[in-house]
Amino acid sequence: MNLTIRSVRIEDAVFINEMRRMDGVRENTLGIISERLSRNEEYIKSLSENDHMLVAEVEENGVKKVVGVCSLNVYRNNRMRHSASIGIMVHSDYQGKGIGKALMTKILDLADNWLMLVRVELTVFVDNTRAINLYKSLGFEIEGKKKYAAIRYGEYADEYIMARYNNIPVKKNNDNRIGDIGV
Ligand SMILES: CC(C)(COP(=O)(O)OP(=O)(O)OC[C@H]1O[C@@H](n2cnc3c(N)ncnc32)[C@H](O)[C@@H]1OP(=O)(O)O)[C@@H](O)C(=O)NCCC(=O)NCCS
Repeated sequence: MNLTIRSVRIEDAVFINEMRRMDGVRENTLGIISERLSRNEEYIKSLSENDHMLVAEVEENGVKKVVGVCSLNVYRNNRMRHSASIGIMVHSDYQGKGIGKALMTKILDLADNWLMLVRVELTVFVDNTRAINLYKSLGFEIEGKKKYAAIRYGEYADEYIMARYNNIPVKKNNDNRIGDIGV
């Protein structure tokens, strides 16, 4: 398989829309069958410098197509800019072939070594074993459970909150902490 990981382009929206709606992806993400292509196009156009989106592109018989996507959204809040959330999906026909791992490895290199993030977090349905195994293999740990977090198959399904920590700063003494500025 000829696999390239690259930054997203507007023309990838059609593949992303198809993936978000398909069986094998939709039920493990927050996709919905009625999602319109225009929404995906607008989303790509609206990405800011804090939003990083990589796609996995394969070439088969001379035809290129996007079969995976991974995004890293760095929080904009001044006091949370050391942290980001991650989302990932791989086309159901291409799962279990190492594409998810390749995407996550690339985006974590960006997070660790180019943005120097400390905390990367995500949520995952508690029964999504494949995704949980992937995240654990890359250093994520389960921090807690969100009960009744999202609708799926006519039920409210639980999600784990998972996070991975890196570049943790050495704690300084607190001599320069101002605290409450008394008046
Ligand atoms: C979860 C997902 C992103 C993983 O990507 P993938 O390309 O299928 O996974 P990979 O082939 O790269 O495998 C990565 C790891 O997942 C685990 N894994 C793979 N196949 C598995 C299976 N059938 N059962 C359990 N774990 C499995 C393994 O730990 C594997 O690492 P290893 O190969 O070093 O053992 C992909 O399956 C997917 O998009 N699923 C639907 C949408 C989704 O769940 N998104 C995540 C929402 S939180």
